[in-house]
Amino acid sequence: MNTYKITLLRGDGIGPEIVAEAIKVLDKTGERFGFALEYTEALMGGCAIDATGVPLPQETIDKCLASDAVLLGAVGGWKWDNLPGNRRPEAGLLGIRGALELYANLRPAKIYGPLKGACPLRPDIIGDSMDIMVVRELTGGIYFGKRGRETVDGVEAAYDTEYYTTTEVERIARVAFESARKRGGKLCNVDKANVLESSRLWRETVLRVATEYPDVQLSHLYIDNAAMQLVRNPKQFDVILASNIFGDILSDEASQVAGSIGMLASASLGNGTRGLYEPIHGSAPDIAGKGIANPLATILSISMMLRYSFDEFAAADAIEAAVEKVLEDGLRTPDIYTQGGKKVGTVEMGDAVVAAL
Ligand code: IPM
Ligand code: MG
Repeated sequence: MNTYKITLLRGDGIGPEIVAEAIKVLDKTGERFGFALEYTEALMGGCAIDATGVPLPQETIDKCLASDAVLLGAVGGWKWDNLPGNRRPEAGLLGIRGALELYANLRPAKIYGPLKGACPLRPDIIGDSMDIMVVRELTGGIYFGKRGRETVDGVEAAYDTEYYTTTEVERIARVAFESARKRGGKLCNVDKANVLESSRLWRETVLRVATEYPDVQLSHLYIDNAAMQLVRNPKQFDVILASNIFGDILSDEASQVAGSIGMLASASLGNGTRGLYEPIHGSAPDIAGKGIANPLATILSISMMLRYSFDEFAAADAIEAAVEKVLEDGLRTPDIYTQGGKKVGTVEMGDAVVAAL
């Protein structure tokens, strides 16, 4: 029997609540599909700051490096909002992405049939379905570029640098082309090549990689147009390739089109099979501790873990089917609630998915 070692970063806010439900689902899948799970707890984010003074203790990095996959809830909260940038909870998240070299962030955004009513767009705009894969570069760009503050002629200034090497663009472009090949065969590259030099290099590099993928239909959009097209006609997209910051923004937008940010899972991958799996939403301190957070994005992140890190495809499919089933049964956390649904809390939703499994 295979045993998978998973490091749990429960994090802050609603993080611990949603991770608890995801673990129940993972344990149940292991039972049903015949694999064992070994968990290690580690601190990252605000909870790590409180316990150790830093958002990403070395011990956490070591534990993650020694595991097959990492499951993360969410980090951040008001309590830590006034700390300097490099000591904030978010610095822990960027730090672990960098330390594990997880440069490829896959963020699928799809509308589940039963949730069509939660999509804010007109039914004729979304049509039968929307199923997009946002491929976001995760360890480069303005998130990791040179930054600083300075005073020029007595005036305070600050800067962050969008910086990409061709090596960084090539490897993320390949991930996007491969993903398009396995899906609908269409890739839309998003950049701002009409203004930014870094985007011009990005686009040239994407075009070069494209010659290796003549079977993939490649198009390009500037980020502003892409943001508009995503709500004007989301059906036109299959795979979207974007830099770190553009992918961050577009994936939040895509999640709302899909009904709720509480539904979107993500996988962060590098060159090996070890990945970090997390919902794309934040720690939602406003609803933390109330038992109403939607655990489905984290549960769907488990499905991605099974698919991308462990090759447990049947188990991954089973989780997705179980999520569809509870949605079909009308179960709704408040974020996806529409009239006629059965309003449930975090634990009830998690239990329902386990039961459906
Ligand atoms: C995300 C989040 C993070 C990001 C924040 C919390 C640092 O918004 O994962 O999308 O910007 O990458
Ligand atoms: Mg984000």
